[in-house]
Amino acid sequence: MKVAIFASGNGSNFEAIAKSDELHNVGLEIELVVCDQKEAHVIERAAKYDIPVFINQLSDYPNRGAYEQAIIEKLKPLQIEYILLAGYMRVVTPVLLAAYPNHIINIHPSLLPKFSGLEAIERAFEAGDAVTGVTIHYIDEGVDTGPIIKQEKVVRLTNDTEESLEARIHQTEHQMYRQVILDLLNKTNGVDKK
Ligand code: GAR
Repeated sequence: MKVAIFASGNGSNFEAIAKSDELHNVGLEIELVVCDQKEAHVIERAAKYDIPVFINQLSDYPNRGAYEQAIIEKLKPLQIEYILLAGYMRVVTPVLLAAYPNHIINIHPSLLPKFSGLEAIERAFEAGDAVTGVTIHYIDEGVDTGPIIKQEKVVRLTNDTEESLEARIHQTEHQMYRQVILDLLNKTNGVDKK
């Protein structure tokens, strides 16, 4: 299964997927990283795994549709089946959605629909929520909306700082994203078919 991973920043979720032998052994092929920030750390991480990066900045285009059309032109010849958003901090427009209907997956660090948008972990911490979590979902035209694939809770401990809570959320994200991709691979490989 050929995928492209979209990321804007650190890229820890990208790396959790890229370094997983289990996923590669059942057919995951990361063909490309698409990154909209030329200084993002994910670019260095991708180089470690010899995965090409398409750095594509919105400021180089007249509008978001043209920016996404350039991405589609890159993905088409690679025969990408799924797009995995991993810290991609842009709302996807109908242009890309129409090219990959029901084949774009996002990870978000909260129990959606709570705390959609930016700084979800910080906002959950400041709100004093006893339980927060992680959501993986297919995207639609909204901000962090669309059919949920998997949700997991992360409990806030009494002595948690925002940083310690964030670290546990990221750990949960990395495990969850690998599991969701594994399930998807098993499904597309026919393992689940009776
Ligand atoms: C992750 O926590 C991801 O859930 C979040 O950005 C972070 C990226 O971390 N995504 C969103 O908030 C999407 N709305 P990473 O670059 O280390 O993978």
